[in-house]
Amino acid sequence: MTDAAGFSERVEQVSISGIREVFEAAGEDAINLGLGQPDFPTPDHARQAAIDAIESGKADAYTSNKGIESLREAIAAKHERDNGLDIDPGNVIATAGGSEALHIALEAHVDAGEEVIFPDPGFVSYDALTHLAGGEPEPVALREDLTLSPAAVEDAITDNTAAFIVNSPANPTGAVQSPEDMREFARIADEHDLLCISDEVYEQQVFEGEHRSPMEFAESDNVVLVNACSKAYSMTGWRLGWIAASDERIERMLRVHQYGQACASAPAQYAAEAALTGPQDPVDEMREAFRERRDILLAGLEEMGLECPRPEGAFYAMPKVPEGWVEEVIDRGVVVVPGEAFGSAGEGYARISYATDIETIEEALEIMAAATEAVR
Ligand SMILES: Cc1ncc(COP(=O)(O)O)c(C=O)c1O
Repeated sequence: MTDAAGFSERVEQVSISGIREVFEAAGEDAINLGLGQPDFPTPDHARQAAIDAIESGKADAYTSNKGIESLREAIAAKHERDNGLDIDPGNVIATAGGSEALHIALEAHVDAGEEVIFPDPGFVSYDALTHLAGGEPEPVALREDLTLSPAAVEDAITDNTAAFIVNSPANPTGAVQSPEDMREFARIADEHDLLCISDEVYEQQVFEGEHRSPMEFAESDNVVLVNACSKAYSMTGWRLGWIAASDERIERMLRVHQYGQACASAPAQYAAEAALTGPQDPVDEMREAFRERRDILLAGLEEMGLECPRPEGAFYAMPKVPEGWVEEVIDRGVVVVPGEAFGSAGEGYARISYATDIETIEEALEIMAAATEAVR
């Protein structure tokens, strides 16, 4: 069915992200704590690998649909090194960022009218991509500590559920799921014979606890794993992510990827291979910087009396805020994102990104403290 202007019902259900609207509302010299990307350069060796590939002519042509073999080998080696997972390079598709990986997973597995369960508040793409695949979003509210409860996911499952999405560390909360939760998500995927899409793009930004993937625990092939170079190596502009899954699932997702994308950008593939196989110090340095900033931000929020579940990963904090707080903060020149941009259960919260330097965070904290006083 189409509307009067001829647009699909699917696209009419999706709007431009609320985050963008906030940016547009803010003044030009506002302090931007709304950003979803690291403020570090891409490592030199990754940049250089792309330059070399371009100069030698290696990056001129389509690559194989799944991506160059050496990149997929590097991805498999990364999963063995970091996650203890034995993934065959043939079971990996290199994608245009984690975004395309999520898109092809949903396109390949969701029929019209089928439900997709995901965290609320959660990353904005889960709702939008579910609609674009013709599915029905089934947001599940988080626990008080802003983690996703496996029991709540299990309760939301119906005969019509196509998949559930797990995201740890999470955007917009910074929450990290415990290994026990991840084991439970794997059990649910196995026992309900249901697809679990595990979005692990913030894997490298974990400050406490440890990152575990439900794929480690699953006994069936019902977990597909989404990851990317974007956040780990500060490569959001390169558009390089991947999806790992069983033969059968990869074959179906490859059909979507082949016609929608052909292959991931060749220069980006070479850069990603270098990032994954080269020295990992830039990853450790970024993690340390984020940890330090998080602590400063949390101390500042506590001082102004805002309750904030302690984020253990990513580079976001999500405090509970009084009514009118977000508007007041934005009016005073600091961009933060209202929690409801990430789902209705996000109401009463704000997402603060600390992907910016300490001086700026401290300046923003002073402004936020004054705004808090003003709205109390
Ligand atoms: C949770 C989550 N998943 C996936 C993505 C997509 O990342 P990419 O830039 O690799 O497409 C993002 C980007 O913000 C994200 O926050």
